[in-house]
Order: sequence, then C-alpha cells, then structure tokens
Amino acid sequence: MDAAEFDPLLQRAHALADAYLRGLGERHVGPRAGRDALRAALDVPLSSCGDDPAAVLDLLAAQAERGMSACGSPRYFGFVIGGAFPVALASDWLVSTWDQNAGIHAISPFASAVEEIAAEWLLDLFDLPRASGVGFVTGCQMASFTCLAAARHAVLRRAGWDVEADGLHGAPRINVVLSAEAHVTIDVALRYLGLGTRHVHRVDTDDQGRMRAEHLRDVLASLQGPTIVCAQGGNVNTGAFDPLRTIGELCNAHGAWLHVDGAFGLWVRASPRHAALADGIDLADSWATDAHKWLNVPYDCGVAIVRHADDHRRAMTSAAAYLIQTAGPERDAVDWAPEFSRRARGIPVYATLRALGRNGIAGLVDRCCDRARQMAALLATEDGVRVLNDVAINQVLVRFGDDDETTRAVVAGVQADGTCWLSGTTWHGLAAMRISVSNWATSEEDAQRSVDAIMRLYREVRTP
Ligand SMILES: Cc1ncc(COP(=O)(O)O)c(C=O)c1O
Repeated sequence: MDAAEFDPLLQRAHALADAYLRGLGERHVGPRAGRDALRAALDVPLSSCGDDPAAVLDLLAAQAERGMSACGSPRYFGFVIGGAFPVALASDWLVSTWDQNAGIHAISPFASAVEEIAAEWLLDLFDLPRASGVGFVTGCQMASFTCLAAARHAVLRRAGWDVEADGLHGAPRINVVLSAEAHVTIDVALRYLGLGTRHVHRVDTDDQGRMRAEHLRDVLASLQGPTIVCAQGGNVNTGAFDPLRTIGELCNAHGAWLHVDGAFGLWVRASPRHAALADGIDLADSWATDAHKWLNVPYDCGVAIVRHADDHRRAMTSAAAYLIQTAGPERDAVDWAPEFSRRARGIPVYATLRALGRNGIAGLVDRCCDRARQMAALLATEDGVRVLNDVAINQVLVRFGDDDETTRAVVAGVQADGTCWLSGTTWHGLAAMRISVSNWATSEEDAQRSVDAIMRLYREVRTP
C-alpha cells in the first residue's frame, strides 16, 4: 500500500472541511436545495470505470453546501441537535482513520480501553452507580432499546422466565408504564422488544409535561407482576424533569424497573447549578442518554447505562466460536450494545471529556441554559409573544399572536430567512415555536441576532 495515495484526497477533504467550518458562523442555517435539485446534481448512471476521487469529493461538498442544514451553526436551534467541539471532531476524524472495529477487545485493545475509561468518567460525571454497565450505541433510541432489553431480561428473570432462550411466547405478562409525554423512541423500543404499545399504562402529566407522581402511585397499586416504568429527565418540548425522586421511591417500593430517558437532560448532573433538577435520578435502574446532543460530539453517539451490569450483559452479549472474547477484565463492546461490528464512537467521548474537564462540561450546560433564558426573556418583551414553558434548561416554546396560523407562519418565515433555524411543535393543543440551545458555540450575540430575526419575521407576519 502506498500511503501517499491518501495525501491528495485527505488534503482536499481538509480544505473542504476547513471552508465549511469557516463559513458555518455566517451561512444560511437551513438547507436551500431539496430532493429534486440534489438528485439533478448528483444522480448519474453508475459508471463502469469510476470517477476521479477528488472530483467526487468536490461534487459532494458543493451539493452539501446547499442541501444540508448547518447543524453545527451556533444559531441552529432545531430538534435537540448539538454541534461538534473541535476536539470532538478532530478525534472523530482519527476514529475514521484508524477504522477500528470496536466490537471486541481482541481487535482493538486501544478502543476497548478508551471506551472503558470514558464509560467510567460518564458514571462519575452523572454520579450514577459506578458498577453499572455502559454501552456506546448510535443514539438515545438504541440506548433506550438496550436499557429496556436489560429491563425485560431482569423482570422476567425475577419471574422465573428466561426471555433470551424462550422469547415472549408464553412469558409472564410485563406491565409497562409510561407518561403521556414519553418520547416516541420509548414506544419504538417497546415495539422492537415485542412488548408493543397498545397495552401500555399511560400516566397523566402536568402543564410542563411532568409525570404526575400521584397518578403513577395509583397505576402501580393496580398492577402485579413484572413491571417496567419509563420516566424522563428532559421533556423534548419543555425540557421539564419528571419528579424523579418520588418516582424512584415508588418504583423501588413496588419492585418495578425504572428506566429514565435522559437524552439531553442527564447532562444537567454535570452542572452544580442545574443538577438539582434531576434529583433522585440515581434511584433508577437504567438511563439512556446521548453524547451527540449535549456533549457536542459528532453523530452518532448514544449511551446506555444499566445499574445491574449482569442483566445488561445477559440481554446484549453474543458469542460465536470464531470470536476471541475476553474472560478477564477487558471490555468486549458486544457485551453492552446491540451492534456487533461498530465504530469506536467512545473515542470522541473520551477526548471531549478529557479536554473539557468537569468545569468545561458544567460550563457548556450552563451556557446553553443561559442562552435559552436570554432568548425567552427577549422574546417575551414583544407584544403578542408568549413563552409557553418554564425555561428550566435549554428548551423554549414560543407562541405568536396566540394563534396557530401566525405561529406556524413565523416558524416558516424564520426557516426561510436563514439567520437561524428552528422548528415547530404542538404543545397541549397549541402550535408553538421550539427553540433548543444545544451548541457549545452559541454566544449572547447569536442569541440576540436570532431573536432580532424572529421578531422581524413576526412583525412581517403580523402586518402583511
Ligand atoms: C427526550 C428524547 N429521547 C430520545 C431521543 C432520541 O434520541 P436519538 O435521536 O439520539 O435516538 C430524543 C431526541 O431528540 C429526545 O429528545
């Protein structure tokens, strides 16, 4: 192999990445080209002899520029999407370069050791039981799937059933309890696990989307047998936390497995200013979170954490004669995640945690929350603009003119304008604009500039 063959392409890729990153702060934040335009530029019959690789890179970069959202922009407030810290991006480049299959220790003792340490740091940062199992997965969807697979294993094992061997045919029925505001990915995980969604018990929520603990108490009192409860730390719309201490105590008293979806909310545990919001979260049995959201590592990286490491391992592990699996303390990632072969996505987590340190991570969380409060306060000064949620962390819901049509028109106007990007939602029957501040680089000026654009578009919509 001639290593020099890589040089021109990697240098080209570096130049293209550099140009993209330099433009990120000022470019139109949303995508400007859709499917038809992109297909017209990219779709050719697959050639027999191939094309010049450098030209392929140039073509992709040119079309990416108009066909992508600038998710790393400090004024990207859509969904809950983090940017990428420089050290996270740089280490992720190395992950691609090293191209490790991080599935088993025998292939990559390095990836295995780095992920083992990153996992320990996360448990320490979140102050969760240090003996928990930790799996690095593609995102919070798969983290909840992993945790709930461990839950399914554990509650059935306690009922004398081996779900890994016997499946769900004839198994004791598992009660599943969710709040009315559970994230859709919990429903999807239940579908994947054969538990389904039709028979789930839904607990009422309050005006911020928090589970009503007194209703949970009643629901649990009516149930017998294996039970799994899913709570959340960080509602996808309001950012609100379920009353986790009370929920944890109820679940422990009932012998129910408590899973917490903390896709972004779990990170408040790293902030002395915000940690109290997640008080009692450590009473749970499993936790799902994302590093690609609030830790600002590149996609994709979710984290599944299970208090009972044995249950986690039994639900996930795979073994085959040709594999070389460790019997020692070394970590085989296949024991902790649904994936078999996989990218060493824990490496950027290690790099980012190490480069930021505790204070850096607390600062990241606090900064995003402060920018969200700044935007909420500025928006609320305008006549006819109402902030619908208590801005406890990084999520803001805004309604314009107390009218669905006006609100949707402002959201569409902001998206087309390109100063910032955000999307809409429906909150308790009302259309709302959704702002999620999840990027390490969002400054006070970015927040102000975005609010100015939102106000300008609202005034345009109000006075056509
Ligand atoms: C509360 C919550 N749970 C789960 C998810 C799903 O995460 P992912 O897209 O990483 O699978 C999200 C995504 O926004 C979320 O906000």
